Amino acid sequence: MPTASSVLTATLFLFNVLIGCHGWTGSVLSRRQAFLASVSTGGAFLSLVTADSSPALAMDTSSVDTVQSSSRLLISTIPSMPYGAPATNSTIVDATLVENIETLASHLERLAQQRDNAISPLLTGNAWRLVYSNAPEIGSLADNLPPGFHLGKTYQPIDTAQGTFENRSPILVGNLAKIVISVVGDVQVAGPGTVNAVQVVNDRNNRVNVYFRGITFTLDEVFGIQKTWLSKTLIPNADKSRAQPANDVTYLDDKMRIIRGGDGSLFVFVLENDANVAPPTRSSTQTEAIAQKDGQTVDVGIGVAEKSQSPELQFLFQSR
Ligand SMILES: *[C@@H]1O[C@H](CO)[C@@H](O)[C@H](O)[C@H]1NC(C)=O
Repeated sequence: MPTASSVLTATLFLFNVLIGCHGWTGSVLSRRQAFLASVSTGGAFLSLVTADSSPALAMDTSSVDTVQSSSRLLISTIPSMPYGAPATNSTIVDATLVENIETLASHLERLAQQRDNAISPLLTGNAWRLVYSNAPEIGSLADNLPPGFHLGKTYQPIDTAQGTFENRSPILVGNLAKIVISVVGDVQVAGPGTVNAVQVVNDRNNRVNVYFRGITFTLDEVFGIQKTWLSKTLIPNADKSRAQPANDVTYLDDKMRIIRGGDGSLFVFVLENDANVAPPTRSSTQTEAIAQKDGQTVDVGIGVAEKSQSPELQFLFQSR
């Protein structure tokens, strides 16, 4: 357990970083932008642990032959993590458990053979919570938050009518403070036949293009007092040379969503029954307004601190 003073020191450090940086510009966009854009969380970090320390047995999925049994088994296999953070293949200690989760996800995708998820009304929802990912970026963040900082429940609200999404990751600083990192962007149904970064063709109308518009850091709770204490928005530099970030929604029902990122990374979301989770908090217009007011254009290097021009991201995601 971090001591109160180490938490406070780390918090103050972060606040200094948040307040103290201005005026970067840049031109080269890290590939991590694609992660932010394509994906889900804007950060899934945490420090350890499986729910169960006994080794799992490798799974034989041959008897799991319905979509329903397969999706239930997947959900029950993913461990709960401290602070409600998403499980990742870096933070689950048991390699067999990781393998079982990934095998079950692929099994479910194969069994269900879904199409037209890009235009499904089931996509829209606020309380889509990330429960598992193997994205290397997320995994690398998972072990690397500063001492005393913990990722909480990470949501990805989506509104397809409005064409917006948000990756909302609260970072809890002991009991002292909460910082929300929010990656906002637009979503759009991808054209038929498009090819993503790992050469998967969009032949099932499951692909959603993702346009990453900004990252906002908001200090919204200090000593239990909830208000916007501090907020800062970073606007990513566009990089036209990169493949269009896109997500394939490979499985979707009214409770679960499986996404493959543009690089094949796996993301499993569950739709929680929680009316308190807000919808995506901005429109493109709002983000542009912020950008013009005080937004700062930066190279974003989430997961690879040295590639980011953002001191906030460098602070949070440097190697430790
Ligand atoms: C997590 O899984 C991804 C995708 O298979 C892999 O690239 C990455 O190296 C894995 N990370 C760890 C820590 O095993």
